[in-house]
Amino acid sequence: MPSRIFSVPALRLALAVLPLLCAFLSANAYPAVANVYARTSVNLDGKWARIIDPYDNGYFDYRLKPFDASPNPTGGYFLDRHPRDKSDLVEYDFDTSPTLMVPGDWNSQDPKLFYYEGTVWYRRLFNAPSSAPGTRLFVYFGAVNYEADVYLNGHKLGKHVGGFTPFSYEVTGLLRPVGNSLIVRVNNARHRDAVPTVNTDWWNYGGITRDVLLVETPSTYISSFLVRLKPGTLDQVEVRVQLDGPRLRQRVSVSLPGLGLSQSAETGDDGAVTLEFPAAKLPLWSPEHPTLNEVVIASETDRTTDRIGFRSITTRGPDILLNGRPVFLRGVSMHEENPMRGGRAYSIEDDRLLLGWAKELGCNFVRLAHYPYNEAMARLADQMGIMVWEEVPVYWTIDWSNPGTLANARAQLTDLITRDQNRASAIVWSVANETPVSDARNRFLRELIHTARTLDGTRLVSAAMEQSADPKDSNHKIVDDPLSGDVDLVSFNEYVGWYVGLPDDILKTRWTVPPNKPVFVSEFGADALQGFHADRLTRFSEEYQADLYKKTLAMLSKIPNWRGTTPWILADFRSPRRPLPNIEDGWNRKGLIGQNGVKKEAFYVLQKFYARKAAEQAAKDGQ
Ligand code: GCU
Repeated sequence: MPSRIFSVPALRLALAVLPLLCAFLSANAYPAVANVYARTSVNLDGKWARIIDPYDNGYFDYRLKPFDASPNPTGGYFLDRHPRDKSDLVEYDFDTSPTLMVPGDWNSQDPKLFYYEGTVWYRRLFNAPSSAPGTRLFVYFGAVNYEADVYLNGHKLGKHVGGFTPFSYEVTGLLRPVGNSLIVRVNNARHRDAVPTVNTDWWNYGGITRDVLLVETPSTYISSFLVRLKPGTLDQVEVRVQLDGPRLRQRVSVSLPGLGLSQSAETGDDGAVTLEFPAAKLPLWSPEHPTLNEVVIASETDRTTDRIGFRSITTRGPDILLNGRPVFLRGVSMHEENPMRGGRAYSIEDDRLLLGWAKELGCNFVRLAHYPYNEAMARLADQMGIMVWEEVPVYWTIDWSNPGTLANARAQLTDLITRDQNRASAIVWSVANETPVSDARNRFLRELIHTARTLDGTRLVSAAMEQSADPKDSNHKIVDDPLSGDVDLVSFNEYVGWYVGLPDDILKTRWTVPPNKPVFVSEFGADALQGFHADRLTRFSEEYQADLYKKTLAMLSKIPNWRGTTPWILADFRSPRRPLPNIEDGWNRKGLIGQNGVKKEAFYVLQKFYARKAAEQAAKDGQ
């Protein structure tokens, strides 16, 4: 009988309370303001003063109380002090310190910070906007990797943990007319109990890696909303609205002006309301027809707009159904990195580069590995007609038995789903990647699957799961992950021909997979240095990679319920695990595109395969 550290209900209760407790402890903490780019805001991006602080000298008070974890009450950098007179000793000065650009990782901005893991202090001065009386103000961060301690005019607003999801703090009434000092202690050190944990195959880019905004809302505002097809229908719209503020009971209206649809209702005492209405002629979103509709949501005190695509995504036996019709996911995996800049991607230009390459490859799907991306990525995918797999960095050897680790993973998944729940392109929430099977890991991941299904029962839930080899026949692979019964897509990564044997072993390989669900291959691939040409058995040659793609696609096509793949990976990316001189030089070379933006031979192998799959799909759809 496995040892039960916690009963599942008790664990769920603890997990539900823990984030609320954290929020209470950082009094100003607020779930990130929803639909923030549709709101009036002051953009705080640009040059921020920075102080590199590897000993956390600006935070702890080591001199007076060694090994004391309490922040330094008089000397902390968060006080942004200046000498009172010529005799006053202050050993830091943001005004004369160098700067870093926000958004952006520090590693690719400053050679001194290329490998740096530790604390960097950021400071931005700004003046209070002239807001109407009663306006509420929130400071919003798109993401900070990995921990952020946030201070305004010397007062702590809160601490956020997790490198890839948005967060905000209310600052109403805390601003001075001029010279407000917003300071962030950013620390990207890796920790055993963190999410991700200490070992990953990607660069640990630190910094304020996405936008920082000072967002204005009315006193009672629309704090979140969900607009979608009513589950199980293709002609009914469901809208959930939540208000936040002193006047929670209000009349709320939802309209789709382009379709002549409108509906209104009163919120309850909790500020929430759900509206449903028929929408017979609703144009459905699909990769071929990525139709987005203007949606206007208004209360008596607030109004917000968004562009929403309506579609359904379900499975039926071995098929994935988009709007009720079988679809094959022609995908590719990626990292949130612009390979030509060799840094964390953060801008719409970076997003267009990556999704543009995917489109050129013939993709109708992308896997945003291994963590939540910037908000614009799913919005751009909505517009371009590319379906998206989004995931949290529950990657490899997570600290499965640590309730704080589970609360962290659950909070990141909750923030991702809350942020992107209105994106038609988002069709898969993934809770893990390549995690060794154990009872503790199964419990942990089942909690996350429960969270995803509770927050959003309308999308597919999956994970890159495990497989095993038949002890009697190494060419017989068995997808036997215990979670296969819990997920909608049976997804797994496989590297036959690269990490397991050579490409000629691929055609001898046969697969045993769960029969009545869609099978999805979330990774396969091989490294190739762009421009290195040799025979097909020479490692790191373009020929080896191309041959592996040809053989793998032929092998996977034999799996009767194979319904899609996201080969690893669109473009070369930085990784400290890849030191091979003159070949890797700190880069993972499995990209179909080199770090110089030049396509490799395997790109065209996959492009040709996808063109054929698209033609088959079009014929089936009678297009
Ligand atoms: C794993 C992992 C990736 C990694 C890849 C590789 O499947 O999911 O993050 O980069 O293998 O080894 O290249």
